[in-house]
Amino acid sequence: MAIKSFLLMPLVLTILAISRPSHANDPDILTDFITPNTSSLSPSFFTYSGLSAFYNPDPKNFTVIKASMTEFPALNGQSVSYAVLQFPAAGVNPPHTHPRAAELFLVLMGTLEVGFVDTKNVLYNQTLQEGDMFVFPKGLVHFQYNRNHNQSAIAVSAFGSVNAGLLSVPKSVFTTGIDENVLAMSFKTDVPTVQKIELGLKK
Ligand SMILES: *[C@@H]1O[C@H](CO)[C@@H](O)[C@H](O)[C@H]1NC(C)=O
Ligand SMILES: *[C@@H]1O[C@H](CO)[C@@H](O)[C@H](O)[C@H]1NC(C)=O
Ligand SMILES: *[C@@H]1O[C@H](CO)[C@@H](O)[C@H](O)[C@H]1NC(C)=O
Ligand SMILES: *[C@@H]1O[C@H](CO)[C@@H](O)[C@H](O)[C@H]1NC(C)=O
Repeated sequence: MAIKSFLLMPLVLTILAISRPSHANDPDILTDFITPNTSSLSPSFFTYSGLSAFYNPDPKNFTVIKASMTEFPALNGQSVSYAVLQFPAAGVNPPHTHPRAAELFLVLMGTLEVGFVDTKNVLYNQTLQEGDMFVFPKGLVHFQYNRNHNQSAIAVSAFGSVNAGLLSVPKSVFTTGIDENVLAMSFKTDVPTVQKIELGLKK
């Protein structure tokens, strides 16, 4: 009897592994909302004003102002969040991914070139004008670039997660201590070139 159930274990585990969908999205909650404190619940708990300073016609650097669960705790369990992106003239948001959410991108001011790459390494890029929207599918590498060298740009991003996560391609590859020989072989170049890229990203 004991031996029989022991033999069945691998089969049971395999069935469990197949039937359980993998979850890379926010879990559903069983209450209207999640609050740390029902005794002090008021409309202000559901209010956040941290994006009110988003309009900066002259940002010095590429800047992201986030309104995720960290900044706005009432989002806990609601599977949505925002970020405002400010691009100086010629500003770039380098290739990156959000592992836990799609991104719905809306240009509020200026013109932006955007693009993402799918798992077949096909690039889908577009030039967006004020009022245009673009969707970056969940988990795919994407970027935004303000090609205009005279005018800044502002965009707002909505995410289908309270914590979409950010994985910057240059930083994750070149600033985390991966062996320089591994990087040189992977990028089909030499170690000095890898070191030059690493140095540039430290600035
Ligand atoms: C919870 O509510 C009480 C009473 O309003 C307040 O004193 C306390 O600071 C609140 N705690 C948190 C974490 O909001
Ligand atoms: C922002 O840009 C200025 C010059 O354009 C630079 O000196 C400064 O270091 C940048 N700040 C950050 C946080 O990157
Ligand atoms: C897409 O990218 C290609 C290659 O960089 C570029 O030539 C083209 O102008 C871009 N298209 C748009 C609509 O931005
Ligand atoms: C930026 O301004 C310069 C001169 O002020 C002009 O020559 C150039 O064409 C402008 N570039 C764009 C992209 O508007």
